[in-house]
Amino acid sequence: MEFTLDASPLTGLETACLVIGIFEDSALQGPAELIDQASNGALQQLIESGDVDATWKYPTLIHGLDGVAAKRILVMGFGEAEKFDAVRYDMVCKSAGEFLRDHVTTSAHICLHEAELDNRDTHWRLRQAAVGIDRANYRYTATKAPKDHDNDPLDAISFSGGDELESTLSEARGLAKGYLRSKELGNMPPNICNPAYLAEQAREIADSYQNVTVEILETDEMAELKMSALLAVGRGSINTPRLIVLKYQGKDEESQPIVLVGKGITFDTGGISLKPGANMEQMKFDMGGAASVIGAFEACADMQLAINLVCVVAAAENMPDGNAFRPGDVLTSMSGKTIEVLNTDAEGRLVLCDALTYSQRFNPLALIDVATLTGAAVVALGHHASAIMSKHDDLVDELIEAGQTAVDRGWRLPIWEDYQSQIKSTFADLKNAGGMAGGSITAGCFLSRFTEGQRWAHIDCAGSTWIWGTDKGSTGRPVGLLTQYLINQAG
Ligand code: BES
Ligand code: MN
Ligand code: ZN
Repeated sequence: MEFTLDASPLTGLETACLVIGIFEDSALQGPAELIDQASNGALQQLIESGDVDATWKYPTLIHGLDGVAAKRILVMGFGEAEKFDAVRYDMVCKSAGEFLRDHVTTSAHICLHEAELDNRDTHWRLRQAAVGIDRANYRYTATKAPKDHDNDPLDAISFSGGDELESTLSEARGLAKGYLRSKELGNMPPNICNPAYLAEQAREIADSYQNVTVEILETDEMAELKMSALLAVGRGSINTPRLIVLKYQGKDEESQPIVLVGKGITFDTGGISLKPGANMEQMKFDMGGAASVIGAFEACADMQLAINLVCVVAAAENMPDGNAFRPGDVLTSMSGKTIEVLNTDAEGRLVLCDALTYSQRFNPLALIDVATLTGAAVVALGHHASAIMSKHDDLVDELIEAGQTAVDRGWRLPIWEDYQSQIKSTFADLKNAGGMAGGSITAGCFLSRFTEGQRWAHIDCAGSTWIWGTDKGSTGRPVGLLTQYLINQAG
């Protein structure tokens, strides 16, 4: 979607739809007040008669007011001024975006960012509005024709404001691009989105930016590197694994990079420890970590941030067949540590441990892996937050703060040494499953054994990266958290 700025006077602006917000129980302000004045109090009357509702997130569409050039006005409820915060603001933008997507108009002029909001400046409000509306405007069409009654989604929006906000809009463009990539990859069916497809997508990104390069490692090269844990997971599938390495140089060559590592299981059947059939199709989202690191990488390249960034994706399909790995197997990882396989469904940590060992060759400033690693993360935090685990308090703080800024929040779980005893093995250096208790934490503990001496954090996005149920689909998260972290690192 195209974003532009338009500073011309609001009431004379010719647009298919003007989008403004109003608070409950408080006088009209900013754009709403201007429109009310121009229309001789018509907006206020509609509010008083109950035709326009200021309830939080609630959209009301008005057609043509005298004195206002816009064809339509979409009035969004901000709810009670007292409760209005960044999260509520974001939800209003989302709701406006969904309404506009499903309505007849394909363009609109947005004024939502002119609302007062404690601790969030115009730049933030504009960026979140642009990204939020763009995300909500998404409609999956890759393998499905739009229904006859579906209206076309938006293709362009303008925002009130002058040139001083142009840099904010370019940031929004980068973020929106990253989210879109992540969402589209997440939603793509697993017969299309397999490890080779993820590699192709990475190639496409590398081709688009002059300071991005890509390297794709296939089975033979990974075998030479002794990545036996990663290869074991992919062995049961004819869609062979890939290790995807994207590099972005936004700073002098000697500067240490940030390294993002993504779990890219393009379908997780559980392998020989087969998952139950119900809802198994949702395991196409098991590459959500990979999708989000690729999305954040693309956002960073689009914004040309002043950092060096490496993105490593461990892509494989976890399938059961005669050649599949099995419970009881002992694998020798690239690090040399041996792993007893208790459950082939705990495959994410197996592909990640080799990817994390490999990543250390880049001498990372920070090493961050992102993975739909455990169902327990969904149990612990639901769908609202990604679980963050690290022994580095400062890195956790940076990630949590980035999540708060982007309204793509993370929350910390401990990975104290106390939990390590749960992954002790009789036949190997460690085992790949730690039992029911603290399932997300023991998975984090497993990874910690392959990142010793590194400034490392693990993000379990099993709950945040997709929505289940009737509305099921990828959210693109945690692209927002990751990209904000990269923006903050670029200073
Ligand atoms: N991809 C799953 C985690 C998952 C499950 C994410 C449900 C979202 C919803 C992962 O590979 C897995 O199967 N983990 C197991 C680990 C267990 C066998 C130790 C789990 O969480 O049950
Ligand atoms: Mn699994
Ligand atoms: Zn999995």
